[in-house]
Amino acid sequence: MRLILLGAPGAGKGTQASFICQKYGIPQISTGDMLRAAVKAGTEMGLAAKKIMDAGGLVSDEIIIGLVKERITQADCANGFLFDGFPRTIPQADAMKAAGVKLDLVLEIDVPDTAIIERMSGRRVHVASGRTYHVKFNPPKVAGQDDVTGEELIQRKDDEEATVRTRLEVYQAQTRPLVDYYGEWAATGDAQAPRYRKISGLGTVEEITGRALEALTS
Ligand code: AP5
Ligand code: ZN
Repeated sequence: MRLILLGAPGAGKGTQASFICQKYGIPQISTGDMLRAAVKAGTEMGLAAKKIMDAGGLVSDEIIIGLVKERITQADCANGFLFDGFPRTIPQADAMKAAGVKLDLVLEIDVPDTAIIERMSGRRVHVASGRTYHVKFNPPKVAGQDDVTGEELIQRKDDEEATVRTRLEVYQAQTRPLVDYYGEWAATGDAQAPRYRKISGLGTVEEITGRALEALTS
């Protein structure tokens, strides 16, 4: 299974990705997590990306496409993968098409902007694994600690309300066009086109996982 999770910042892509990847035994390829790892490692690329990410903008297509192309050649991708937060622009989607990367499904998680601000402000993450919690909606077993390792949870720099608003604007301008891109491609009946499914991202985490797993097999 090779799939794309599409959705606004805070739609729950990362949260649902872990369930889907566990069920299908495929790796989660989150460009956001890859960039945060580069920031943490202090690489040149990470330092350049940090400024852009903290401001809520998008890192250049060239860097992202390079990262992803390299990642999908690794052995654990042989049986498929899940893209979380990629592609995010038309050129990124075109690059996958041009490279002949065959995708099975695009799953859109739809959440209104009003719910997103609340989700972001309560989000806490375990940086090393990318595991995501919410202080109210999806709390860890012990406040401030990762369930698996017991390590400290942090708040992402780009989760401040003003930055979240910028990220939502960037999503509308640059990423939302991919809804039509993949929707229209699927409608052509082209054998290379991935199926397109849209689910509501409102409800409990478990409810959305149920919808997502159903969409994957329908
Ligand atoms: P990235 O890390 O991809 O961020 P994003 O797309 O903005 O998405 P988020 O991680 O914020 O949200 P999510 O949908 O994963 O939601 P989550 O599951 O965490 O990218 C960060 C930055 O990196 C970008 O701004 C950009 O600069 C750069 N970047 C990354 N990829 C790039 C690319 N391809 N090209 C260019 N630049 C790129 O859930 C959010 C919160 O809600 C959590 O607290 C969660 O616990 C909670 N929650 C989840 N589900 C529910 C529910 N059902 N009910 C209530 N709360 C819920
Ligand atoms: Zn995420």
